Amino acid sequence: MSGPAAARRPATADVADRAATGFTEAYGEPPAGRWAAPGRANLIGEHTDYNDGFVLPFALPLRTVAAAAPQPGEAWTVWSELSGETISFGADQVTGSGRVTGWGAYVAGVVWALREAGHRVPGARLAIASDVPLGAGLSSSAALEAAVLAALVDLGGLDLPTERWPRLAQRAENRYVGAPTGIMDQSAVVRCWDGHALFLDCRDESVEHVPFDLDAAGLAVLVVDSRAPHRHADGEYAARRTSCERAAGLLGVTALRDVPADGLAGALARLDEEETRRRVRHVVTENQRVLDTVALLRSGRVREIGPLLTASHASMRDDFEITVPEVDTAVEAALAAGALGARMTGGGFGGCVLALVDAERATPVATAVTAAYAARGFTAPGHVTVLPGPGAGRIPTEEES
Ligand code: GLA
Repeated sequence: MSGPAAARRPATADVADRAATGFTEAYGEPPAGRWAAPGRANLIGEHTDYNDGFVLPFALPLRTVAAAAPQPGEAWTVWSELSGETISFGADQVTGSGRVTGWGAYVAGVVWALREAGHRVPGARLAIASDVPLGAGLSSSAALEAAVLAALVDLGGLDLPTERWPRLAQRAENRYVGAPTGIMDQSAVVRCWDGHALFLDCRDESVEHVPFDLDAAGLAVLVVDSRAPHRHADGEYAARRTSCERAAGLLGVTALRDVPADGLAGALARLDEEETRRRVRHVVTENQRVLDTVALLRSGRVREIGPLLTASHASMRDDFEITVPEVDTAVEAALAAGALGARMTGGGFGGCVLALVDAERATPVATAVTAAYAARGFTAPGHVTVLPGPGAGRIPTEEES
């Protein structure tokens, strides 16, 4: 399974150049092209996607890039900058019972899902480089899936409009990798637009690109990596999902999306168990917070979304019970230092916090979070200030751009 290892480029070099140089060093010739997909942050709408609800993610300016070229036969070879390894797999691992494991599963899963959907997937050599941190809740897996998908669709000339990419990549993750995630991450990394958030209805996958022009409002989003170890995240995620599906069954609706905010009290009265009531209350109020946030953004009132973000955090902490002390500390410290709103983003049990801040307050807020961490003896957090970027696609060559 191992092969030629290309040297690591300095992490400061552009990620697209690192992927291309890695390709050339691993395979002895330049790639046919480079395809990128971003990580994502979810502005608001957590654990609503698998309840057929609403989400509002945006693409990060941090990207995963696949440099690629076709190779004959049903064979795929992938070099990763991060692990320094080259793995290869053939038709056996994407048809029969054989499975690729580890990071390669996200690549093989995409090949598997494309073939399952009836596409003739070209054999390919790929080199992957990424600026999306792993395990930070910023969808590094969806970014990898989408970068590889973009490359294979173009190399094979496959007839697959981008609207269908998210379901396909989600299927790779659910069925091949084995993670029971919803549709948000793959939709975000594929369908987001520069300078916009993606208002996605997870029931019918309709979208609205809502302007999220932080720069014009003198604002920034500070993303704080809590560096909290993910504690039982997979099992807890699946448990939340099961509990929501059970509650929908008890309430006689297809999904919790069908409980409107003004029907919440009635729905809660029909549930006999306090924990289930809390889970339902989170999902129903969170859907409403997404709608309220979208309404504010549509009318250019981006400064005013802060309290909705903070209320979302409280709901995740108290009702959905998916936060951990590190993320609660980051949110409290950011708010105390003047953030307009702050919340954990992503599946929970660690990951990142985002704080909406006046652009000139980004550094003092980050410093305050770091100090609060030190006071509690937590591992120092990471942080980066971001603006919304574009979704997945081919990177133009120098002649094209
Ligand atoms: C993870 C999953 C998403 C979504 C979020 C929670 O990121 O991959 O599908 O459920 O958690 O909002």
